[in-house]
Amino acid sequence: MLSPEEIRAIEEEAPRYRDRQALGIEALKIVQRHRGWIPDEALAAVADYLGLPREHLEGVATFYNLLFRKPVGRHIIRLCDSVSCWLTGQETVCRALCGEHGLTMGGTTADGRFTLVTVPCLGACDRGPVMLVDEDLVGPLQPESLGPILGRYE
Ligand code: FES
Repeated sequence: MLSPEEIRAIEEEAPRYRDRQALGIEALKIVQRHRGWIPDEALAAVADYLGLPREHLEGVATFYNLLFRKPVGRHIIRLCDSVSCWLTGQETVCRALCGEHGLTMGGTTADGRFTLVTVPCLGACDRGPVMLVDEDLVGPLQPESLGPILGRYE
């Protein structure tokens, strides 16, 4: 079941979309903002509320890698995985995140603190390599700068 707050947020966004199908991704993002991820029952509730087939929304949620279908950490790290960041050392940053900092690509740390995913260009190529930690854009990154950056997030 969707909460009154979720329904209110969906209806506030609705005028910006041409129909209920186009509103689907935004509605899932709203649910994710409220719950941290999108459980099966929430996806079904969005589908029922918008009058869309569940399979349609399931396909959208699977394709769109910023929607999480399983529980995630308290902080989401979105590491840029596009060409300008590759050229400025993204791979060494990725190796450090997954090595000494114990993160796994697509996974969540055992303490539930971080989930790490890659995303296409974050639009900050002049600051590469970059990542988003929750809403914070950080970069240019170096392996040595990761400890202090991650330390800001409990
Ligand atoms: Fe990384 Fe554009 S390629 S921000």
